[in-house]
Amino acid sequence: MVFETTGTSIFLAVVIVVLFLFLSRFKRPKPNLPPGPRPWPILGHLPYLLFTKEEPQFVFERWARQYGKIMTLELGGQTAVVLNDLDLIKSCYQSDTFNGRPKLSTFEIAFGAGAGIGTGQHLHWREQRRLAVSLLRTIRFGEGVSMAEIVEQEAGKLLADLATHNGHPIDLTHILPKAVCNIVCAFVFGKPFEYSDPRYILMLWLVYQNFKLAGPSAVAYSSAFLAKLPFGPGKRLVDNLRAFKQFAEDHIFEHEKTFDRNDIRDFIDAYLSKIENKDSLPIDESEIFKHLNLVWCVNDIFGAGTETTAGTLRWAFLYMILFPEVQGKLQEELDRVVGRSRMPTLTDKQNLPYVEATIQEINRHADIGPLGVAHATTQQTEILGYTIPKGTLTLANAHLCHFNEEYFDNPLEFNPDRFVDADGNFIKRDEVIAFSVGEYFDKKFILYKKLY
Ligand code: HEM
Repeated sequence: MVFETTGTSIFLAVVIVVLFLFLSRFKRPKPNLPPGPRPWPILGHLPYLLFTKEEPQFVFERWARQYGKIMTLELGGQTAVVLNDLDLIKSCYQSDTFNGRPKLSTFEIAFGAGAGIGTGQHLHWREQRRLAVSLLRTIRFGEGVSMAEIVEQEAGKLLADLATHNGHPIDLTHILPKAVCNIVCAFVFGKPFEYSDPRYILMLWLVYQNFKLAGPSAVAYSSAFLAKLPFGPGKRLVDNLRAFKQFAEDHIFEHEKTFDRNDIRDFIDAYLSKIENKDSLPIDESEIFKHLNLVWCVNDIFGAGTETTAGTLRWAFLYMILFPEVQGKLQEELDRVVGRSRMPTLTDKQNLPYVEATIQEINRHADIGPLGVAHATTQQTEILGYTIPKGTLTLANAHLCHFNEEYFDNPLEFNPDRFVDADGNFIKRDEVIAFSVGEYFDKKFILYKKLY
């Protein structure tokens, strides 16, 4: 009798699960969302992206051809709307409605519920970004060294390091981030690290790993489903972030011990000074500037500033190897404008149109963020007749813009000359959206202009 009851229960449970899986395969998650491919039960479209050797942007490209300017995907419990058209991306990202960030479950599990610059929205985003930008305008290191000089110093160290290999082949994967990140570290921690510092090397390795694990647009960071699994990429992301949190906290602790409000050395000091003056801040701001959010900010700047730039530089080296004629033209322009007795500086940029064109072509062709960085809607909104609920993750399909034949002749070809006019002037093109678009980009770009 007992066996019969148990057998019936198991049978019923199996029937319910199978029925649920069957129904959820055909159910659209929410009404009036844009169309999209048929999702799998529970995992949605993740299996299409996880169980293939194809890069996700190419899977997205095929879907975009089928579903048009806008499509819906289910990514492990998170509804995502993908914008496949440049004008649509521009009009959406120019409005505040599309400039939120999705909930980042992996970060929340690793750090606690807070928000940084690139991970926060509304006031968190505005105030913490404002602090970073204003500091970049004023900061001087040690003997009054400027940010631009720090960049030059790191470039010099990198060249010296490369020279030690005496022309032998080397793997640049882990050399470039050391130099790039040190510029960010000077700003955040007030000092660069030794290239041989084991903890620094470990942190760079974790950032590199997380970039690969989180995938294009860093969507995996927001999947609560992946983050809570006891194995797999979500768990590894969380473990890596926990290790980074410890690193950030150790540095914050050191700063607290030596903090002097009259000598603000770096971003951490500037942030601690905000925390110290909490009582004089408007009530909303005093909620933002706290220890937990400082950890988020340190992670945001360290993470966002390292692999993006190092990855782009790795591509740049590859293009120079593959296209020696481009390398020759660059060298000729640099020799003519800058000469060989000094390093180029940012003020030379306006006289280096071919260098500018090549950088823009690298950003287009290397396409290192083919789906941008995930945004989220801050309220329910109507678009092209569809209803997008509040909190929907949105992705800008940069890949389609970068390889669109309507915008670029022969887009697969690497060709910096496409950005140079008949008089040899640099042509800046809106269709290259490696750094995002519109007002959002302009605001964010201030941060870059000060750093690089
Ligand atoms: C080739 C280099 C880089 C590329 C292609 C790149 C690309 C991007 C993109 C696509 C976004 C998301 C924009 C959006 O949400 O629509 C972003 C955000 C961000 N990046 Fe970069 N980035 C690069 C270098 C850097 C560097 C050097 C830093 C240094 C600090 C940095 C810091 C940030 C921050 C803090 C955010 C969040 C900004 C915000 O939400 O206001 N990035 N980046």
